[in-house]
Amino acid sequence: MPRLLTSIPVAVVAFAACGISATLAGDATDADANALFHRRVLPILASKNPSSCTECHFGGVEIQAYIHKDQATTFAALRDAGLINLKSPDDSKILQFIRRHTDTTSDSLRKVRAAEHEAFQAWIRAAARDPGLLATQLGKTKIGTELPVELIRHLRRDHVLNSFVENIWSQIGRCVNCHSPDRNERLVKEHGEQVSWIRPNDPAATLAQCVEQYIIDTDDPEESLILLKPLGEVAHGGGPKFAPGDQTDKNFRRFLNDYAAVVNRSYQRVEQLPPPPGEVARLTAQHLRIVDLPQELEKCFLRVDIFRWEGQDWSATRWGTADNLIAADKQLWQNLVTATAPVDSPRAAKLEQEPLLPSGRYLAKVYVDRTGKLQNDRDLELGEDDLWGEVEFDGEWPVGYQPPKIIHAPRKR
Ligand code: HEC
Ligand code: HEC
Repeated sequence: MPRLLTSIPVAVVAFAACGISATLAGDATDADANALFHRRVLPILASKNPSSCTECHFGGVEIQAYIHKDQATTFAALRDAGLINLKSPDDSKILQFIRRHTDTTSDSLRKVRAAEHEAFQAWIRAAARDPGLLATQLGKTKIGTELPVELIRHLRRDHVLNSFVENIWSQIGRCVNCHSPDRNERLVKEHGEQVSWIRPNDPAATLAQCVEQYIIDTDDPEESLILLKPLGEVAHGGGPKFAPGDQTDKNFRRFLNDYAAVVNRSYQRVEQLPPPPGEVARLTAQHLRIVDLPQELEKCFLRVDIFRWEGQDWSATRWGTADNLIAADKQLWQNLVTATAPVDSPRAAKLEQEPLLPSGRYLAKVYVDRTGKLQNDRDLELGEDDLWGEVEFDGEWPVGYQPPKIIHAPRKR
């Protein structure tokens, strides 16, 4: 499993490094604040182009929100919000916001950022020396974002990427053999370049590619091809890869709906945000097969939760899980296992590096949806009422499916 990029490196460095010069171009130094405000700052307010903030924020903190059409109001509001440093204008927080950048800033955004910085810096330097402005008292006008910090955080690109990693990239092992350009030469010849939508070892570039080729549909997220194809709800060259209501379906939809809400700016209140996940989950390359299932259960949805023997007792939280439909006729069920651990636990950090269930003694709790209720409500979780039975197993558990780990179906409870 490749190491995952889970956050965008944020560098706040000297001006020169991001193409912003510390010295100001000719006319700025002595010009009066009002002229600078009108000539340089107000055009940013009128600009329809994305501001430099969009490099890291999907929304909520556009630079335009920090500018009021009246100079004195802008000044007083920024000052009272702690965004202007009167003693040391170049250290003003608003300038620090503008100076933030990633290591991969595009040329166009670099120019936008340099223009924003020069404008604000020239104006703040002049404004900090302007007695009229310094005396301004703020009326009711507020400036900047009204959004609570939790929302600003949720709308940040590194958080969105994290969610892509947790919900989709963590299961990408189900797709790589056919959709990663280092493995699918034959399929590309047959179907065209668009089958290569995965960018190896690069979740950020993969997300960008999915959006670019429109297999993530932000107008109608649950109609996205990245979901419908592997669900088998539209024809898919690879056949069905997961089942409606299973964990992968839930996770894919969780990301797609959240992503659409972020880019469409639908979130206004913290309560609208999806609850944070309680566990970290990563697909392993270990297969589990359950044989001798009763005939009556064919085609039913089955989930197994796997608990590890910890010397005294079974683990309090599951170490792994897998779900799938039971095969027709064959009385067997099989799938790849996802390793799981509570968020922030030592085990979670380990499985992010290497998702693997070590050999040893386990308890499998087997849940079966005998009434098909999951098809009607894909968000439902099978619970104690659906527990079919429990079975212990032990020993080596190599990766790969030849052979899988094979266990016998538990007796019905
Ligand atoms: C290189 C990435 C990056 C860019 C570009 C960026 N920010 Fe941020 N922003 C962050 C991060 C990361 C945080 C989280 C808080 C922190 O680490 O300080 C944040 C937090 C914030 C917050 C939350 C409150 C606070 O004080 O931390 C505001 C407001 C904000 N940014 C405004 C802006 C504005 C306005 C711009 C554009 C002028 C901008 N940011 C550009 C990365 C960025
Ligand atoms: C065994 C091979 C195979 C596997 C595994 C596979 N697919 Fe595919 N997939 C294909 C083939 C072949 C096509 C091209 C024909 C088609 O569009 O159905 C395709 C097409 C697609 C497309 C349409 C791409 C486009 O822009 O036209 C999407 C989206 C997709 N698959 C998603 C997935 C996801 C998500 C997974 C993993 C959960 C997956 N596939 C696993 C074989 C596979």
